Formats: sequence, structure tokens, C-alpha cells
Amino acid sequence: MSDMLQLERMLNTSKKIDVMVVAGARPNFMKVAPILNELDNEHVTNVLVHTGQHYDSAMSGDFFEELGIKEPEYNLNVGSHSHAVQTARVMEKFEPVLNEVSPRVLIVVGDVNSTLATALVASKYKTLVAHVEAGLRSNDREMPEEINRVAVDHISDILYATSKDGLINLEREGLIDRSQLVGNVMVDTLLNNLERAKNRPILSTIKFDRFGLLTLHRPSNVDEPELFEDLIKTMSEISMSLPVIFLCHPRTRAKLKGINIPDSIVVLEPVSYLDAIGLEAKASVVFTDSGGMQEETTILGVPCLTLRDNTERPVTVAEGTNFIVGRDKDKIIETFKMVIGQEFKPKRPEYWDGKASKRIVESLKSKYL
Ligand code: UD1
Repeated sequence: MSDMLQLERMLNTSKKIDVMVVAGARPNFMKVAPILNELDNEHVTNVLVHTGQHYDSAMSGDFFEELGIKEPEYNLNVGSHSHAVQTARVMEKFEPVLNEVSPRVLIVVGDVNSTLATALVASKYKTLVAHVEAGLRSNDREMPEEINRVAVDHISDILYATSKDGLINLEREGLIDRSQLVGNVMVDTLLNNLERAKNRPILSTIKFDRFGLLTLHRPSNVDEPELFEDLIKTMSEISMSLPVIFLCHPRTRAKLKGINIPDSIVVLEPVSYLDAIGLEAKASVVFTDSGGMQEETTILGVPCLTLRDNTERPVTVAEGTNFIVGRDKDKIIETFKMVIGQEFKPKRPEYWDGKASKRIVESLKSKYL
């Protein structure tokens, strides 16, 4: 039976849907995959809503296919807009869906605009809002994601934290009563897929034995032309001693025009989840402004130079392989030289054990459903 048909039956027979799960943008998909699996394993009725914030197959469809995520019962098809318009459109299109399904719990993950928009709508309905990846704080309000994190935590009813530092942030903000440390769902997905990722055909197309892997997409790094060009120059210098594979987000690609890129930096389109993990696992070092890659490299034991002034994931620095290097050329090169000769071991912060989604579903079943 198709998912839609099943949904229609469930709604017609007025069988209550327990949980609605929202995914909108690339970093959401690997987070919802293990949660949806576990909901099914535990016979918790669920529907999936895709907001359509990301829509290219490289940013969305490929992830569904590779991670075996079901076809969403609803797709809001909002697409790309300014923050305000994107958030508003998701809200407008999501409200009737929430009304129709009226689930007991809405699960939102991460910190993208779709997370905020749907949590905000549901917070004014009877549906309980559960935020997965609660408590992360960069304390940098210049980041749109930081605004989303703070707002979502404060309007949610149930807060599932990834790490102890997150729990401490939630306590400081007076939210501890609704918080629980469950671990990291990204790690569930990583551990479930690592062996497949290590055998991806893309790995044999890379002609270097050793390489650095680069991703950049934060507005703070790519939207200011001078700063962006300086970063590329720094990476060009590094690529003279270690070739660099640059996985280029669509917004970054648009900013690359007119900038000189040496042959030692290979610019690729965004790759699928498994390809990204395969490349991360094989890289000698990762340079990134992504949040998820800071966590993945810690689990993989690959050094990560985070090209930002802060991180909302300090456990990856304290216990893992992450170094916050900012955008300063000397600091980046000095740290690169320091890590490149060093052996790093995979690290597992507390509860980053592949069982976070199990804990989440157990908690939902025992307390809220
Ligand atoms: C969003 C998230 C960010 C996350 C990132 C991962 C917010 C505030 N930001 O930023 O936290 O790290 O996703 O990718 O929600 N585009 C395409 N195809 C797509 C999607 C986007 O070409 O499928 C292009 C469009 O030109 C668009 C631009 O990328 O304008 C930015 O997309 P958008 O969703 O607005 O934000 P991201 O930078 O992707």
C-alpha cells in the first residue's frame, strides 16, 4: 500500500497519527532517517512533511534514496527565498497540513528555517513540539541558525539534547524541566552507513592518494567577496602541499565566478550523503564551516579545521578532532601543519553511540504518546 493511501485510510478511520516529522533542508535528512526508522520499528504512526526548502536532487532527492527515507506524505514545495519569505511560506503552507493531520507530537530537527517555521506554527496548536538537537549555541546572533535554535528551543515542549554542553545551555535558559540528553542522531546515521560509504565509486575517481576536503557555504564566509577570496587564496596555498577536493554548495558556486582556482583544488558539485561520508573518512584533513561535518570527523577520527570563529558543538573540540581556526590565514596554515603530521583516533562523546533515535522514541512512547 502506498504511503499516501495508508495515510488516507488512517485519516478516514480517524485513527490518530502519533507523530509528524518535518524535514526541509539537506542537513535535516540524515537526522530524520533513523528517527523515522525507529518510529516504524516501534509501530508509532507517523507522517513525513518535506517543506521543499532544498529541492535539487543533489541537495534533497539523493539523500532520500540513499538513506531509504519514505516518500513524504506532504511536500510544501516552498523553494528558495529570503529568510523572511521562506519562513513565512513554510508557515502558511504548513498550517493546513498540521490542522488536517493533527498529530500528537511534531518532531523538528536542527536549526534551519523550516525547523523554526513549523515549530512556530505547531506551538500554537495542541500538538506537542519536540526539538531534536536542542541546546546547541554558538552565541553568535549573526548566524541565522543561532536565531532559529534559540527560538525553537523556547517554543518547544520537549527538548532532546545531543551533548552535555547543550543540556547546560538549556538549564541556563530555564528550560531544563523539558530537556533530556539523548545523544546524536547524526551519529546513528553515520554508524549505520559507514561501511557502504567507504565503498563508493566516487572514491576511485579521486586521483590523489591523500587530499584535504573543503566545504564552505555559511553566508559569513561566502557572501563577502573579499573575505571569500582570501579564504580561497589560503586554501590554494594549502593545496600546493595537499590537493584539495572542494564540495561546492550552490550558493558558494555562484560566488566563485571570477576567482582564480588552481588545478590543485578540484571543485565538485554537492555530493550525496554516502559520497560525502566516504570522502570525509578518506580525507587527511577536513576544512569546513558546516556543523554536521565537525561531528562526523570526530567520529571518524579525521582532523577538522572549522573555518569559523565559534562553534555550537564544543564537545567536538574538547573531546574530538575539531579545531576552530576562524578565517585568519596564518592560523589556518599553522593548524594545518600541526594536524597533518599527527595520528587522530575516532572519538565517541557520551551517547554518540548510534542509539539516539531509540532513546527519543522510547521517551516519546513512555511520556507523550
Ligand atoms: C540552509 C540552512 C543551513 C544549512 C544549509 C545546508 C537555513 C537558515 N540555513 O542554508 O543551516 O547548513 O542549508 O545546505 O535554513 N539552492 C539550490 N538548490 C537547492 C537549495 C538551495 O540551488 O536545492 C541555492 C539557492 O540559490 C538558494 C541558496 O542555495 O538561494 C541558499 O539556499 P537556502 O535554503 O536559502 O539556504 P542554505 O544556504 O542552503
